[in-house]
Amino acid sequence: GGIGEMLYEGKAKKIFATARPDQVMQYFKDDATAFNAQKRGTIVEKGIVNNKVSERLFKLLEAEGIPTHFIERLSDREMLTKKVTIVPVEVVVRNVVAGSLAKRLGLREGDRIEPAIIEFYYKNDALGDPLVNDDHLRLMKVATPAVLRELRELGHSINTVLKPFFAERKMQLVDFKLEFGVFHNKLVLADEISPDTCRLWDMSTGESMDKDRFRKDMGKIEEAYQEVLRRVCG
Ligand code: C5P
Repeated sequence: GGIGEMLYEGKAKKIFATARPDQVMQYFKDDATAFNAQKRGTIVEKGIVNNKVSERLFKLLEAEGIPTHFIERLSDREMLTKKVTIVPVEVVVRNVVAGSLAKRLGLREGDRIEPAIIEFYYKNDALGDPLVNDDHLRLMKVATPAVLRELRELGHSINTVLKPFFAERKMQLVDFKLEFGVFHNKLVLADEISPDTCRLWDMSTGESMDKDRFRKDMGKIEEAYQEVLRRVCG
């Protein structure tokens, strides 16, 4: 079906209606933001990388029995997906201390976390996506205890698939962020999984191959994204 009206524009993607009411098209932009959109920029061809990397990872997860919103990649920047109702929770899975965890708790960046830990953030731009616990989400009626248990289980299952996949490609999966949606009363993995939403460290050099290069002005941003694409899809 042809492309319909734009339903939503986010920081890195646009969502369009399609001929089918139960499907939408995700368009991946090159726009990059960080620190709750206080820092803005462009990462050339990021949209193409994130679309293709997400396709590969969604297919891998589906093959391992994890339901996702992915239907098919339509073009370099377009992905056809199920139209889900997004659960306003960011599920962060951490295998190694980095980023906000190191800062908040004064932990040493690079220390292994075994078993992996899960954090929930309430998706709300005005509040700056605060860290929340199960009780907060229950209080706000964002999710029931059963849904929270399922989100945590899905986070661990997805990590169990992705960690060795990246390791085989000489990348350490430090941490990543997941979003879920509801489709026909079932939780499915939504949004994207890409160098925008994961921390990936090169296993031989320890170098960042993800959005931290943009956040921290480390240079060689496009090169890092292309290298992740090569290792994941090449
Ligand atoms: O900043 P923090 O250390 O909490 O990020 C943890 C992980 O979640 C990182 O991989 C980061 O890229 C991802 N993340 C994200 N979107 C956000 C916040 C974090 O993709 N809004």
